[in-house]
Amino acid sequence: MRHLLSTKTLGYDEAIGLLDVAEDMAATQQREVKKLPTLRGKAVVNLFFEDSTRTRISFEAAAKRLSADVINFSAKGSSVSKGESLKDTAQTLEAMGADAVVIRHSASGAPRTLASSGWISAGVLNAGDGTHEHPTQALLDAFTMRKRAHGSASRARDLNGMHVVIVGDILHSRVVRSNVWLLSTLGAHVTLVAPPTLLPVDVSGWPVRISYDLDEVLRGEPDVVMLLRIQSERMHDAFFPNSREYSRRWGLDDARFARLPQSTIVMHPGPMNRGLEISSLAADSVQSTVREQVTNGVSVRMAALYLLLSGDREDSL
Ligand code: CP
Repeated sequence: MRHLLSTKTLGYDEAIGLLDVAEDMAATQQREVKKLPTLRGKAVVNLFFEDSTRTRISFEAAAKRLSADVINFSAKGSSVSKGESLKDTAQTLEAMGADAVVIRHSASGAPRTLASSGWISAGVLNAGDGTHEHPTQALLDAFTMRKRAHGSASRARDLNGMHVVIVGDILHSRVVRSNVWLLSTLGAHVTLVAPPTLLPVDVSGWPVRISYDLDEVLRGEPDVVMLLRIQSERMHDAFFPNSREYSRRWGLDDARFARLPQSTIVMHPGPMNRGLEISSLAADSVQSTVREQVTNGVSVRMAALYLLLSGDREDSL
């Protein structure tokens, strides 16, 4: 891999290969000494133009577990406030030594621009761009689903036949786009449940079923229910839903959660708004994978950095 920008362009074998390397990484994280020498001498720049807790810190943890140096950049408090461009910011950081750039940006397409413009020569990993994609989130979600479905026999397996329901603000979610492409590549069936005002105009071309009735969809006993928050920071161009109405119609409240089969897993990419799109009972239940997703995120990002930066090196994990 030269860059990781999208799951839409990730083929079946590449996706399974990445999840299998993440399995290897997860196994190393069970050891007493978690640090590996694999990326010693490499430097990873975290270039974050938007806020983040999970993604930025887990990329940092992943790089450090592989012994890479990490340089953290946050647009807040930087010379971006003085008008410095993406090109100049990226080139400035690369000049301090960067083998990979992990970028989060509010502009859809910023990571692809960085990767294809020739401004920098480092590998680029998309950590979330506008409403476009968040590929490592989808990979850690798929890893989590595969692990729950197949346990220790996950290696080389896909998600064939699984029914995944994704509920909420689809329009503004980069997580949902990356998930839809990856889940369909891996053989899962996806149903999106959302208010009509929070669905993208091109959704009819996506490999998904659409429903406006959460209770009807949940009666079908899906394997996975993934809740999304209202992404108000990207809502300048859309109808802003009433929180109480959103919660009543699109939230996994206690009553809906109680009706789910015990085999259905409850996922959320975070950050969660408890009591709005997900109840605390559901979020803290044994069916919830919220914390597992965070743990798996480190292994998946270790795999992505390893595949981008290790080249032909054959260091054992
Ligand atoms: N899931 C996710 O992207 O979370 P952060 O915004 O905290 O990184």
